[in-house]
Amino acid sequence: MSQWDVTSWRAKEALQQPIYPDLAQLKAVEDKLSAMPPLVFAGEARQLKSALAKVAQGKSFLLQGGDCAESFAEFHANNIRDTFKVMLQMSVVLTYAGKCPIVKIGRMAGQFAKPRSANTETINGIELPSYRGDIINGIDFTEQARIPDPERLLSVYNQSSATMNLLRAFAQGGFADLHEVQKWNSNFVANSPAGERYGAIADKINESLQFMEACGFDSSVPQLRETEFYTSHEALLLPYEEALTRQDSLTGDWYDCSAHMLWIGDRTRQLDGAHVEFLRGVKNPIGVKAGPTMDPEDLIRLIDTLNPENEAGRLNIIVRMGADKVAEGMPKLIQAVEREGKQVVWSSDPMHGNTVKASNGYKTRAVDSILREVQQFFEVHKAEGSYAGGVHFEMTGQNVTECVGGSFQVTEADLADRYHTHCDPRLNADQSLELAFLISDTLKKARA
Ligand code: PEP
Ligand code: CO
Repeated sequence: MSQWDVTSWRAKEALQQPIYPDLAQLKAVEDKLSAMPPLVFAGEARQLKSALAKVAQGKSFLLQGGDCAESFAEFHANNIRDTFKVMLQMSVVLTYAGKCPIVKIGRMAGQFAKPRSANTETINGIELPSYRGDIINGIDFTEQARIPDPERLLSVYNQSSATMNLLRAFAQGGFADLHEVQKWNSNFVANSPAGERYGAIADKINESLQFMEACGFDSSVPQLRETEFYTSHEALLLPYEEALTRQDSLTGDWYDCSAHMLWIGDRTRQLDGAHVEFLRGVKNPIGVKAGPTMDPEDLIRLIDTLNPENEAGRLNIIVRMGADKVAEGMPKLIQAVEREGKQVVWSSDPMHGNTVKASNGYKTRAVDSILREVQQFFEVHKAEGSYAGGVHFEMTGQNVTECVGGSFQVTEADLADRYHTHCDPRLNADQSLELAFLISDTLKKARA
């Protein structure tokens, strides 16, 4: 294989990239970003890799979730807090059932660039370039907003840095203390069936902590007072990723310090493409999406390229086939991976294969299809004797109406009420918690 360096992707074809009108301006922004402090440290990425190695070995479970697309408009401490909070709740539910550690990774602090199925969008006969995420252009349907603007990379860096700072404070500063488990239930969830079920677990945890304290155990240990929370996003916009890639002074290895984990999307996973070229050279844990067109031999070639040393925890295959396709499409992938003895983390993204258009035009997903895909994912792994390692959700802590179904019975007619996403429909806090319980029942059975 040819020599890798941070720029070697530039000699390959990069799909889904914007065409900037002013390349000198882009270069100036890249230079500025290259001088900025990294958002994460290499040592943290290595720590995540060890945590994911345990998932690959069947000893932990991965929970990855957050916005489809972060945005400038929705940037608020409360939104960050609420997504973090619902991930903590889900993780409590999953730990309680699975009796294993949960590795938590946010689609946060950098998840801004979006691949699109069409280069342009037409409304009322007017055709404009597609919106590609706030890191590239604006969502407003005007010619001006849709022009790719390099300055947006700096705004994304700044927003990601502030988000990262808050996440670190939440994870380590007392918010994630297990003694606070009851307070993570948000108001609008507390009285739903999932919220009540959560409240019951929280009570039991509180009682156990009090019991341990009464017995003289010190419950102020970091394992109970703090949590580890990692960040991730799709490494789509390569000039941004290149500019934030640094050589680790301890090991000499290269790390993409824009997030702990990066993944390659289903549309940009070509073996000879720029995205695979870029990510093969950085040492972070990485993911690859596997949609229904993923061929088993191509998957093995991708694994060989991205993880030539077959290191556990390096590679996460994120299966996103759709509820009706996973039972047919996934066994052959698992069989190829098992036959070749490859170490991977398998996780299920039950969102991207289940997007539909509601009769009123909204892009939506049914909670039922999402659940069905996750259940099939577990069943196939059970049948193949492999380990269903985790889930990958588009979700928010807000009370949005973007996915239909769930215990509040969001209908197509309700979608207009609180539809805030900048790209795909997300699960709201209640739907997320409900799914965590359904997964926890499956995990419990799997462990029995
Ligand atoms: C995404 O995760 O937001 C996404 C675009 O996924 P995929 O590449 O699987 O379509
Ligand atoms: Co999405």
